[in-house]
Amino acid sequence: MTSPTTVLITGGASGMGAATAQLFTQEGARVFIVDRNATLAAETAARLGATAVVGDVGDSTFCEHAVRTAAAAGRLDAVVNAAGIILRKGGIDTSDEDWQRTLSVNVSGVFYMCRAAIRQMLTQTPNAAQQRGAIVNFGSIWGELSGKGALAYAMSKGAVHQITRTFGIEHARDGIRVNAVCPGEVDTPMLRAAGRAVPLSDEQAREMGERVVPLGRLAQPVEIARMVRFLCSDQASYITAAMHYVDGGYSAV
Ligand SMILES: NC(=O)c1ccc[n+]([C@@H]2O[C@H](COP(=O)([O-])OP(=O)(O)OC[C@H]3O[C@@H](n4cnc5c(N)ncnc54)[C@H](O)[C@@H]3O)[C@@H](O)[C@H]2O)c1
Repeated sequence: MTSPTTVLITGGASGMGAATAQLFTQEGARVFIVDRNATLAAETAARLGATAVVGDVGDSTFCEHAVRTAAAAGRLDAVVNAAGIILRKGGIDTSDEDWQRTLSVNVSGVFYMCRAAIRQMLTQTPNAAQQRGAIVNFGSIWGELSGKGALAYAMSKGAVHQITRTFGIEHARDGIRVNAVCPGEVDTPMLRAAGRAVPLSDEQAREMGERVVPLGRLAQPVEIARMVRFLCSDQASYITAAMHYVDGGYSAV
């Protein structure tokens, strides 16, 4: 599989972003972990042999800086937008601040990073497979199907799917592919903590997977990361503007 050599991963300090960073560093890619959690970003980057770039993806100036930093050697092959937050609140309990915060990270953050990355990729020479670059955004099954108790989150993931489709078709002929991976229930700090006073225990997480997922268990982060890596590679040369469900059958129920 021809894989990217320089990769920027937002939310790369934790969960699926960190699992994706690990797959890429294992195969020798130069990886930039972009995350607002400075301590965790530094720890993960040191563990994996990556570079940490600390900041908030809701800030467009920061996103442009992060892309310039990753592309300083002349090329940025892939961008993975995994940074995200979830607020477990139903519609009428969602405050203006909850709404704006979710929009800022989950929607503006993905848009700003895609825009900055595509502007950079357009300056790059196509590789042997006629590719200038690839982007993978983290959507969700909730971006298509929704679910009770997280209205702003479901809205934001629906927007990520549309950002993905639109950038995908706008730049298909430029050799820039844009896809989204849509996980179901993945065992990460986000899922364990989401809106709960006490994070889920191992037993509660196991029980949740058994109860709601056709495959009978939660996904491990690496099982999503493998799809991200494939979508970034030249093996996925005919795949763009598409949503890719990796959900253990959840969305079919
Ligand atoms: N865990 C799940 O079950 C699940 C399911 C579907 C989709 N997703 C999506 O997958 C992505 C990764 O989720 P995860 O479960 O690995 O989460 P996680 O909480 O383990 O990791 C998210 C990372 O994003 C970073 N981050 C948050 N806001 C940021 C900001 N404004 N700027 C920069 N970094 C920021 C956090 O510091 C953290 O390191 C998210 O977009 C999430 O919405 C998760």
